[in-house]
Amino acid sequence: MIVMMAGLPGSGKSTLARALARRFSAIVLDKDLIRAHLFPAELIEYSTRQDDFVVEVMLNTTEYVLRKNANALVILDGRTFSRRSQVNRVIARAKKMGTSWRIVECVCPEKTALNRLKSDVRGRRHVAKNRGVELYREVKSRWEEIRRPKLVVDTSSRLESCVQTMEEYLRLKKQTGRSKSATTQAAVSEEVRPEIVMPARRLTGQA
Ligand SMILES: Nc1ncnc2c1ncn2[C@@H]1O[C@H](COP(=O)(O)OP(=O)(O)OP(=O)(O)O)[C@@H](O)[C@H]1O
Ligand SMILES: [Mg+2]
Repeated sequence: MIVMMAGLPGSGKSTLARALARRFSAIVLDKDLIRAHLFPAELIEYSTRQDDFVVEVMLNTTEYVLRKNANALVILDGRTFSRRSQVNRVIARAKKMGTSWRIVECVCPEKTALNRLKSDVRGRRHVAKNRGVELYREVKSRWEEIRRPKLVVDTSSRLESCVQTMEEYLRLKKQTGRSKSATTQAAVSEEVRPEIVMPARRLTGQA
């Protein structure tokens, strides 16, 4: 299964993705980290073209991983999915791979996101040098609502409860028993139909 982490900068995508991955041995492919490893600093552009290139690498990696293990849970992080075309591209590839997809959209009040971004800039905690208030406003101004089945997670609540909501939405189970890796293989139910589980915004749709 492929999970797209969507949301504005500072909305908590990476934090949630990594927390979930720690519990379920999911694979997180973070666009910002991959770009920083692929390109030397002087060649990093922060352009849509380069981002698209890196996402292609991520999708090829996903395909490789899923070919080896069809049950793998691959989380695509670091792309905001601010444009519908970005979502559509992943869905088209997922279909070709014969795997299912889910969207988890992280949201939080603007004030929270801006405080997080400022704090991360001060602490130099993020690998992308263009990340900050300006980027937040720029992405927000061109944000296209994702009208696909999705889970919306308010990350201003406790991380643990966000992880639990995501876990329930993806219907993940910790496997126990004879498995070599004891407790942390993700078990994914393929028949699940995605839907928004935010109480006030419930939608259903096709996978
Ligand atoms: N649920 C949460 N509770 C408290 N702090 C959080 C939570 N989620 C994220 N944060 C903090 O907010 C900051 C931004 O989070 P994160 O890096 O996960 O955002 P992001 O959506 O991945 O941003 P970007 O798109 O720029 O990579 C981090 O410093 C993180 O520790
Ligand atoms: Mg991130």
